[in-house]
Amino acid sequence: MSQPILVFDSGIGGLSVLAEIRKLLPQYNYCYLFDNARLPYGELEEQELISGCVALIQQLVAKTNAAIVVVACNTASTVVLPALRAALTIPVVGVVPAIKPAAKLSKSKRIGLLATPGTVRRHYTHELISQFADDCHVELFGCSELVMMAEQKIATGELDTTSLKRILAPVVEADLDVLVLGCTHFPMIRAELQQVLGEGVSLLDSGEAIAKRVVVLLTQFEGKQIEADDRKSDVAAPKIEGYYTASKISEGLEQTLVDCGFSSIEHYTTIN
Ligand code: DGL
Repeated sequence: MSQPILVFDSGIGGLSVLAEIRKLLPQYNYCYLFDNARLPYGELEEQELISGCVALIQQLVAKTNAAIVVVACNTASTVVLPALRAALTIPVVGVVPAIKPAAKLSKSKRIGLLATPGTVRRHYTHELISQFADDCHVELFGCSELVMMAEQKIATGELDTTSLKRILAPVVEADLDVLVLGCTHFPMIRAELQQVLGEGVSLLDSGEAIAKRVVVLLTQFEGKQIEADDRKSDVAAPKIEGYYTASKISEGLEQTLVDCGFSSIEHYTTIN
């Protein structure tokens, strides 16, 4: 169990995915990489996103001897997975917006995708929609401001409700019954989103599905079943190491990470 699971995002979004994986695999050690020097990813050009993520992850995998990489970021997953898989010999899991379950769940056949500007304009996303939601009217909402508001909420505990209502006004207007949270930052503010959108809109994310995929791939990679013991949390205290690329992080974020069980939090950068 010494080889950690490496979870990666531009910021706090991947914590929503980490929480789901830890529910299934509490005994594993984890590394969590925040590439917050380059946040928000939704505004980055494709090539810049790919080369930065690959270099960063490749080096951290070598440093930590990770067993698997979870790209807990929809924006990065739309473009970096092929290059990352080519650069690594361990399994890589990406995030796919929950378009397929949303289309199945929707009664009105009017669904939405709330994601970053990068994710909503990518070919990958449009393919997903034509493959799995052909029978639905799909509205796309790309918003980096919401990403930064989720960061702010985790660092300070506060979220500006007036801005949230303004950002979500087109979503309310669109009269949807299912909204896909296609950015891992958004489940971190799910309660606030739900409050503005009302209970008539179901919010779907892919955290749980990714966690299940991690269990399957680890089972194959380690050549053994994940034992019942791996799922118990009372054996030994597993480690969660945090790495961030910005020059510093706020005290509020640091405290949140400590409260989440992080055992160490340090600055990290690629060696050129
Ligand atoms: N959490 C991210 C996602 O799932 C990225 C947000 C951003 O950095 O723009 O897309």
